[in-house]
Amino acid sequence: MTTQWNASLYDQKHDFVSKFGANLVDVLAPQTQEHILDVGCGTGDLANEIASFGAIVRGMDASKEMIGSAQQKYPTLAFETQDAATMDYTNQFDAVFSNAALHWMKQQEKVMANIYRALKPHGRFVAEMGGQGNIASIVGALRQSMEELQLPYKEQYFPWFFPAAEDYQAMLENAGFTVQMMTLYERPTPLQGDDGLRNWLVMFSNNILQHVSDDDKELVYAKCEELLKPTNYQNKQWIADYWRLRFVAKK
Ligand code: BEZ
Repeated sequence: MTTQWNASLYDQKHDFVSKFGANLVDVLAPQTQEHILDVGCGTGDLANEIASFGAIVRGMDASKEMIGSAQQKYPTLAFETQDAATMDYTNQFDAVFSNAALHWMKQQEKVMANIYRALKPHGRFVAEMGGQGNIASIVGALRQSMEELQLPYKEQYFPWFFPAAEDYQAMLENAGFTVQMMTLYERPTPLQGDDGLRNWLVMFSNNILQHVSDDDKELVYAKCEELLKPTNYQNKQWIADYWRLRFVAKK
């Protein structure tokens, strides 16, 4: 299969969204009795969906809290607290799956090498993560707000990795994978309620604002809302500018 670069495709073809916006689990196409590892499984909902196809799923996440919740929700599934940068499975899984987790992992080469080793020969790696341009407007507003409030923005506190498709493809190939599909697509994401942006910031800007007092954080949230309202608030709905990098790679 040829590699498909989405950004231009998106502009040209409007069936793009239905084609690539399909549920990632459908792209994985789990088969009965397949062994599948869900990397960064969070609270386990997609691991459970994968298991509903008859696959044997193991969900792993670096967060003990997430795994605790996953195990409580889905007691019959196997979950473990595990860091993808240090896991040491070998030739164990028919497929590795990951949704919205890889962009949190700073040690990408180690993670890729570990996923490659975890797969059986010809196993597949099916994943989606934040890609180049992801949440650019929100990060821009955070930076500008901090600047205007004279709070230092520290680059080293930026917690994410949002690669370009060609860069990530090269990394996967360096790790030994054959990339069968790679696409970067825009997926504007509604944030629930009038406090949607603020709630998002409270949840996800902790790293960036770790050196900022609680009072100043409130000022940053309010400033971000003011800056983003003209562009990211439509019909009483906050929208986050998510860009997803989705790929299928084979061992
Ligand atoms: C995401 O793209 O899924 C994401 C990025 C940053 C924070 C939270 C979610």
